[in-house]
Amino acid sequence: MRTINKAAEMQDAVNREKSVGKTVGLVPTMGFLHQGHLSLVRESLKRADVTVVSIFVNPTQFGPKEDFKDYPRDIKRDAEILEKEGIDYLFFPGNEEMYPEEYKTYVEVHDLQDKLCGRSRPGHFRGVCTVVLKLFNIIEPDFAYFGQKDAQQAIILNRMAQDLNLKVKVEALPIVREEDGLALSSRNTYLSQEERRAALVLSKSLDEARQMVENGERNAGRVMNRMREMIDQERLARIDYVEIVDAKNLDPVNIIEKEALAALAVFVGKVRLIDNTILRMKE
Ligand code: PAJ
Repeated sequence: MRTINKAAEMQDAVNREKSVGKTVGLVPTMGFLHQGHLSLVRESLKRADVTVVSIFVNPTQFGPKEDFKDYPRDIKRDAEILEKEGIDYLFFPGNEEMYPEEYKTYVEVHDLQDKLCGRSRPGHFRGVCTVVLKLFNIIEPDFAYFGQKDAQQAIILNRMAQDLNLKVKVEALPIVREEDGLALSSRNTYLSQEERRAALVLSKSLDEARQMVENGERNAGRVMNRMREMIDQERLARIDYVEIVDAKNLDPVNIIEKEALAALAVFVGKVRLIDNTILRMKE
């Protein structure tokens, strides 16, 4: 594995790989890697000839009151993990490399960026799209792997790739969970023991929603009410949003036809956690 800090050097390296006909897979991350990240890495290793993982805690996607400074970082451990996985390149640029002082350009995916997480995190997806487009331009991957854990992010980046005629194929892979159901997240490390227990209410309420729809409930309002009721019963949890939306365009759904996306963001103590699931009617 070769670690590269400079964009120009990264571009040269992938150009050389592509010139001999190799395909390139990219896994963008903010590091502090867990099995969720590694599921994306392993898919890239399977599908592409060359796998690049980027680690960059992207300042432009954090709000002024968010956890950019405190976001967990451990590059030494991450590099060891990636080396063991057998990836080809680790791209680990500094802030100055990605956003030099004179930086001025931002990318927005309208409408989709304002829904769900965008409502409580204004500017978040503008930061995500900007950094991911930069990574796409530096690495020019054939495939890029994202997690369904951030369902809205995957939908927005897919839209961006289509709208801007990018050649990259954007893929969204299933959520990796702890045995008890908690979706893996770098932010789980912020949770105290008691909060860790309380955080189970996210996946539990999604299980309940899935069960209700499987049992024939089609009224999205009733399903959302039940989810909110469950979460409200957890003393340490505070709802940011609980929604049932169209899984393609994120528009609210009233009556569930075939399938819909149930998505939620919940503060557990001070930690904001997100999770989601597809609700499917029984055939
Ligand atoms: P980060 O939170 O580090 O996540 C990197 C990738 O891992 C994302 O595509 C995310 O959806 C995926 N992921 C996280 N937890 C997962 C889980 N439990 N199961 C499956 N996949 C999971 O998302 C970002 O970074 C940033 O916004 C980024 C795209 C790198 C842009 O800065």
